[in-house]
Amino acid sequence: MTSQPRVAITAVGGYVPETRLTNQDLEKMVDTQDEWIRTRTGIRERRILKETGKATSDLVVPAVLELCKKRGIAPSEIECLIVATVTGDYPFPSTANLVCDRIGAKNAWGYDLSGACSGFLYALTSGAALIESGRHKKVVVVGADKMSSIIDYQDRNTCIIFGDGAGAVLLEPTDSGLGIGDSLLKSDGSGVKYLRTEAGGSLLPPSLETVQARQHFVKQEGAAVYKFAVKGMAEVALELMERNRLKPEDITWLVPHQANIRIIESTAERAGIPMDRVMVNIEKFGNTTAATLPLCLWEWEPRLKKGDRLMLVAFGGGFTWGATLIDWAY
Ligand code: UT7
Repeated sequence: MTSQPRVAITAVGGYVPETRLTNQDLEKMVDTQDEWIRTRTGIRERRILKETGKATSDLVVPAVLELCKKRGIAPSEIECLIVATVTGDYPFPSTANLVCDRIGAKNAWGYDLSGACSGFLYALTSGAALIESGRHKKVVVVGADKMSSIIDYQDRNTCIIFGDGAGAVLLEPTDSGLGIGDSLLKSDGSGVKYLRTEAGGSLLPPSLETVQARQHFVKQEGAAVYKFAVKGMAEVALELMERNRLKPEDITWLVPHQANIRIIESTAERAGIPMDRVMVNIEKFGNTTAATLPLCLWEWEPRLKKGDRLMLVAFGGGFTWGATLIDWAY
């Protein structure tokens, strides 16, 4: 009996737009204070894709091109491209479709995946399965969101949190014994009431009324989501560690979704992992939804060593949540 090939991340690319939206900028837009934002969330600034006519695909294209350059492959070698996003350029066609055309990935198929802040983890498992099955050898998995396109800059509950960005990883088969390991993914659709964009889908198609009622923007019951996130992220991390018989010292890096520094600290504490082994860049980028995890990998890539064990953990709208183990392969 032949065993399934393992799947490794073999390159990482990332992109954040130039424009910085600082806490001081937000003080001029809504009733908020830099100190409140820093102490309650850990965020100092976020990047915003400001130019008109630019969309999520404009974040994805440079991230994927960087990844191809690093790995020394042509975009035409990509066989499948999955974009986890809640802010696709259009309701259809998919952003993956548009990106493949723009980068010359002529031999790829692809699709968008809606998993909110857990989208990258969902996409990573999906992409890895395409390689484990033997169907493909080069799959690109992207987490990307232009959150500024669905954020209400009159709503202080949400506008202080989110930013724009994209991160991408290349998945390939490996016989190194390293690569993507066990994954625990969860979903509970009853969480829709706490975090969603009400209008713009088939339930409430866009109309003058929905726009006037600002229903095309993200609405979040922050305190409720906070409680679910703290519990969900810690539980899933501990369950994954337990079923793989891992102790805190076996995890080189915890890679948590960047929603709130207090949620990150609480997850790390519950998992027994000290903060100097936790990837944190929320102060610079805020919450970029599907992009937070790959943007962490992108920033930390130069420091990662072959054999490092990473545990990625996320929680987001849906609710969706999960954790994935990766033995870094290069
Ligand atoms: O990534 C997807 C998943 N999302 C998350 O994980 C987000 C989870 N939630 C959070 O991170 C936090 O709940 C927030 C950062 C959104 C809010 O922090 P909080 O500590 O839960 O604040 P709160 O909503 O309970 O509000 C506390 C107070 C309220 O005032 P009162 O009623 O106590 O007088 C708010 O009106 O803070 C007020 N407030 C603000 N004050 C200044 C809310 N937003 C702001 C603001 N600036 N931007």
